[in-house]
Amino acid sequence: MKTTININLKNITNDIFYPLYKNTSRYLVLYGGAGSGKSYFSVEKNLIRILKEEGHRILIVRKVARTLRRSCFQLFLDYISRWNIESLFVANKSDMTIKYCNGNMVYFAGIDDPEKMKSIEGITSVWVEEASELSLNDFNEIDRRVRGETKHYKQIILSFNPISALNWACTRFLEGTPKNTTVLKTTYLDNRFIDSEYKEILEAYTGNARMVYTLGNPGKLEHAVFSNWDIVDEFPDTDKDIYGLDFGYIHPNALVRVYLDEKDLYWDEVIYKRKQTIPDLIEDMEAEKIQKKLIYADNEKPEAIEEIKQAGFYNILPCKKGKGSVEEGIQFIQGLKLHITKRSTNLIKEAQSYQRKVDKDGNVLEAVEKSNDDGMDAGRYGVFTHYYNPEGSPSVRWI
Ligand SMILES: Nc1ncnc2c1ncn2[C@@H]1O[C@H](COP(=O)(O)OP(=O)(O)OP(=O)(O)O)[C@@H](O)[C@H]1O
Ligand SMILES: [Mg+2]
Repeated sequence: MKTTININLKNITNDIFYPLYKNTSRYLVLYGGAGSGKSYFSVEKNLIRILKEEGHRILIVRKVARTLRRSCFQLFLDYISRWNIESLFVANKSDMTIKYCNGNMVYFAGIDDPEKMKSIEGITSVWVEEASELSLNDFNEIDRRVRGETKHYKQIILSFNPISALNWACTRFLEGTPKNTTVLKTTYLDNRFIDSEYKEILEAYTGNARMVYTLGNPGKLEHAVFSNWDIVDEFPDTDKDIYGLDFGYIHPNALVRVYLDEKDLYWDEVIYKRKQTIPDLIEDMEAEKIQKKLIYADNEKPEAIEEIKQAGFYNILPCKKGKGSVEEGIQFIQGLKLHITKRSTNLIKEAQSYQRKVDKDGNVLEAVEKSNDDGMDAGRYGVFTHYYNPEGSPSVRWI
């Protein structure tokens, strides 16, 4: 039976990406600023290939499997439902696979799940989402797996923000003219679907965050606030954890789990969502089952704190802030070893561009750039209020 599906690709695709439906380069490199439509196009192109071609076993990969579920896997399901073609697919949520009625398969796997990665054979094409999260070794391994005769062209799509000019994805693909490669740089200005509030956030960015996320150019992190951090697999098994919460709406709500063990400070991104009302936030917090936990929330939003308390989070408290508290909190954290869990992709991105301001003569200031720092603030609220001992510190005045 032949099925006809009518989709007007020109209407649903950003113009800058449209010609790439026909692109057959082995490496299709989509890099640039935030919100430019890279991820949406990658789903569109892969889905169209699934619908039109046969014999596919497409792998969608990210560093961390858990982040893949709520990003790429969810986006595929959203597209299938938006295009009204659910009846032609079988999605297996526990395995994270999607099967098309002609036998084509889409597999979703994290680099951190090597068993699953190994079990997927005969890969015909790949989309590496947030490629800069991977190591060059991770990438080479995937590259090696896409070999042999296939009915249709083999393509590895890489999408990423050029977080650092030194990152392998930038040096491998953005310098010189690599073979069999098509490179497209995009920014939010190329995305006609972007919402105006997000556009405003991006336009207000300064420093390295502006370079990378607004302008889409390879970043260079000078005067980093934190250089004492690394990425760890898991949060320690403890019941002494506390939480820091920064409120947003246009900016994200950021809820960070925090634990200090001697000099080892752990941060785990629990919630990081834009355009969430307080009831939405409460719903997500309920799913985390943290009603009994100490939560230090931005003291500038007492109504929001009260609303969350009324919903059963009786240990939510306003965080402490005051003159000099940002700098004191930062200095305290700088004296520790900060470990950020690997699933905390937004915290990691923030830490990678969190820097001090520089004045017009090039002098480094004490102030930090107020760009892309909602998770950093949330983590600091928790640390500063719970762990930092303010007694005897004359520069801090509680408000
Ligand atoms: N083809 C499209 N149809 C509808 N909406 C789209 C489309 N492309 C992009 N958008 C909208 O623009 C937003 C940003 O797009 P997308 O997530 O693809 O950007 P990105 O380049 O992957 O960003 P980042 O670098 O932050 O990952 C999406 O959340 C969606 O709202
Ligand atoms: Mg994306």
